Amino acid sequence: MNMFGREKDKTDVIETLPLVPLRDVVVFPHMMIPFVIGRPSSIKALEYALVKSKRIFLSAQHDATRDNPSPDEIYRLGTICNIVQSLKLPDGNVKVLVEGLDRGRALEFKEDQGFLKVVAKLIPRQVESGSGVEALMSKVIAHFEQYVKLSNNLHYDAMLAAVRVEDPGKLADTVSAHLVLPVDEKQNLLEILSPQERLNRIAAILETEVDKLQVDKRIQGRVKKQMERAQKEYYLNEKMKAIQKELGRKDDRLNEVEELRKKIEQARMSKEAEEKALQELKRLESMPPMSAEATVSRNYLDWLVAVPWQKKTKERKDLLAAEKILNEDHYGLEKVKERIVEFLAVRQLVNNPKGPILCFVGPPGVGKTSLAKSIARCTNRKFVRLSLGGVRDEAEIRGHRRTYIGAFPGQIVQMMKKATTRNPVFLLDEVDKMSMDFRGDPSSALLEVLDPEQNHSFTDHYLDVEFDLSSVFFIATANVLHTIPQALQDRLEVLRLPGYTEREKIEIAQRHLIPKQIKSHGLRESNVAFSEPALQELVRRYTREAGVRNMEREISSILRKVARRVVLEGKDYQLTLTSEALGDFLGVPRYRSSQQEEHNEIGMATGLAWTEVGGEILPIEVTLMPGKGALKLTGKLGDVMQESAHAALSFVRSRAEDLGIPRDFNRRIDIHIHVPEGAIPKDGPSAGITIATALVSALSKVPVRRDVAMTGEITLRGKVLPIGGVKEKLLAAHRIGVTTVILPRENEKDLADVPKNVSEAMSVQLVSHVDEVLKIALVPPDATPAREAAEPEPMGPVQDGMTH
Ligand SMILES: Nc1ncnc2c1ncn2[C@@H]1O[C@H](COP(=O)(O)OP(=O)(O)O)[C@@H](O)[C@H]1O
Ligand SMILES: [Mg+2]
Repeated sequence: MNMFGREKDKTDVIETLPLVPLRDVVVFPHMMIPFVIGRPSSIKALEYALVKSKRIFLSAQHDATRDNPSPDEIYRLGTICNIVQSLKLPDGNVKVLVEGLDRGRALEFKEDQGFLKVVAKLIPRQVESGSGVEALMSKVIAHFEQYVKLSNNLHYDAMLAAVRVEDPGKLADTVSAHLVLPVDEKQNLLEILSPQERLNRIAAILETEVDKLQVDKRIQGRVKKQMERAQKEYYLNEKMKAIQKELGRKDDRLNEVEELRKKIEQARMSKEAEEKALQELKRLESMPPMSAEATVSRNYLDWLVAVPWQKKTKERKDLLAAEKILNEDHYGLEKVKERIVEFLAVRQLVNNPKGPILCFVGPPGVGKTSLAKSIARCTNRKFVRLSLGGVRDEAEIRGHRRTYIGAFPGQIVQMMKKATTRNPVFLLDEVDKMSMDFRGDPSSALLEVLDPEQNHSFTDHYLDVEFDLSSVFFIATANVLHTIPQALQDRLEVLRLPGYTEREKIEIAQRHLIPKQIKSHGLRESNVAFSEPALQELVRRYTREAGVRNMEREISSILRKVARRVVLEGKDYQLTLTSEALGDFLGVPRYRSSQQEEHNEIGMATGLAWTEVGGEILPIEVTLMPGKGALKLTGKLGDVMQESAHAALSFVRSRAEDLGIPRDFNRRIDIHIHVPEGAIPKDGPSAGITIATALVSALSKVPVRRDVAMTGEITLRGKVLPIGGVKEKLLAAHRIGVTTVILPRENEKDLADVPKNVSEAMSVQLVSHVDEVLKIALVPPDATPAREAAEPEPMGPVQDGMTH
């Protein structure tokens, strides 16, 4: 059988060929197509073909999903193909490349050796020609061109191949092979045997396909356009927002800059400051608005415009009014008030006051701060207060340079801003509490602030421009003077406030503290009244102070409780506070009312000290124990006080015999001098006679009178030297109910300052030698026996040349 013998006898070429049913492909003649064969029956058919003629019958199955289609489920019309290549794949499948030769019709199916064979009759190609066919061909080619262009999955080559085909049947088959159509459509094309008919059909299909594709494209285009438009709109919107934001920010920026410029103009700065500010503003303009740099710059400008460059309150110069206000605000303090009025007068006379700075010195709660406030009121100035307690760094006064991140002006400038005027009363509170350390001396900065020669051009490190402080009324306060650097002390005009007597405290409470506290607790005057004895009790047994600070605090805590009762019982509630009721409000009294309640003791004497909190009692205890003459001092005594103790001991030793003390006492014993309330550092020479008294008492076993208090420096020979703080000390003695005070004779002049009621309430004994002290302070031998503070030691034989 000649397989190429179709031309000879086209009608009855029949051969038996192995069949491979195809699931979703229709193979057309003239077409090369690769595909994979996996079904065992198909592989067997292929193998059979390969060993025979390499010819195979390929035909689509009706249903692609059928794995073993029966002959009925396979199209009868298929393609007789030549196997060009076959390749066994590792997974057992076989990849083949086949060439479609001719259509064939399966006449008969035979199952043999596990695969199907068909008895196939070759369908001869029909030859058609004529102008109609040619026109149809060019129509199909034209459509196909369009089809290829519109379709995304066809290669241009496919079209070129088609264009070259001259045979109508071959063209039809070539184009059919390239069409993307369902299997049954393709099968239809395969089954149309007339080339012209086929071309017609193809042309129709192409027309609709091209239409479809065009519609698709249009739709796609439209969709794309729509999407593009949406995207574009979104993008533009976003851009618009960004631009608006940018523009807006610029506007804000301009506003900010303009606003600052306006503020700078309105601030009425010094020329220097204004130049600096405008320069800074220019810099700010050129900075990214959100940058750290810009923030620093803005802060700086905010400070520059915020300090009071020009604004002043109109000063009141009426001295009578001033006096009136001072009297309204404060009870007593006559001398201080007088000096204040004088001071104000001088300030007025000397137009540019280069005078000293007023400085109130005294214990807490005596009205220093409150007087300064009053002065502000008198002179119609604003009031600001800077507490210097704990200030140790020059930068706290003068600020940090702007180069520091987070720098800000010093306290002086900050307070001036707070004052809002350039002529306030500026209270430098507690100048004595300012400390110095390695970071620089704040007092030198303060000196410049207070120096009228310099303070018109005060320069804060942060502001970095001169600021005029010359209209400021500076007032300082301190508890003590001695810790203030001398240079600063020289600038101060000191007004001392020593503290109040019991009488004064009661008056201050009645006239000022109680009304003030009643108001601030939201009460009415009618709600509560303090009886005189209650206030006395309050002063004596609940407070022990030179000032009235604790008393004010106690009054406030009483009023809190009263307020509660008013709330509970209605606003008509009335209470008269008696001394008996005081305990209900304040609990058990904190202090014994009087020193007289205490026992006379051996080795224990009452001294008077002058400390930051005013006059104080300073009990001194001496204890003896077996030893070798060591002297032990405890209770945080300063150097001067220790020396004073040694001096006292030396005096006692040198006078032992006269004092009835065995001369060699220090051979056998150790002496321990203790000053209780150990946490408080104590210093100064004024405890000399007290230590001597306690020593003699301990050594001679004669008790000391507890109602006697004393103060005075002692020399080795027993002379009594003058001391300071007489007034404060006498007030303290009075406070604790001492009946007799021993003072150095040379301090007699100071008694003039002591309120009459105080000095008259006690017997003040002036002495110039320790012998006089001992005579007064030691209990006469015939008096009541005393409790012994320490076990007396047996004294050994006298020995000379003892040293400590
Ligand atoms: N002489 C006085 N007259 C009226 N009130 C006084 C007097 N002395 C002190 N005060 C009041 O006592 C309280 C404590 O005074 P303050 O000025 O704070 O004392 P300091 O500053 O000396 O520690 C304030 O309420 C003050 O008004
Ligand atoms: Mg104060």
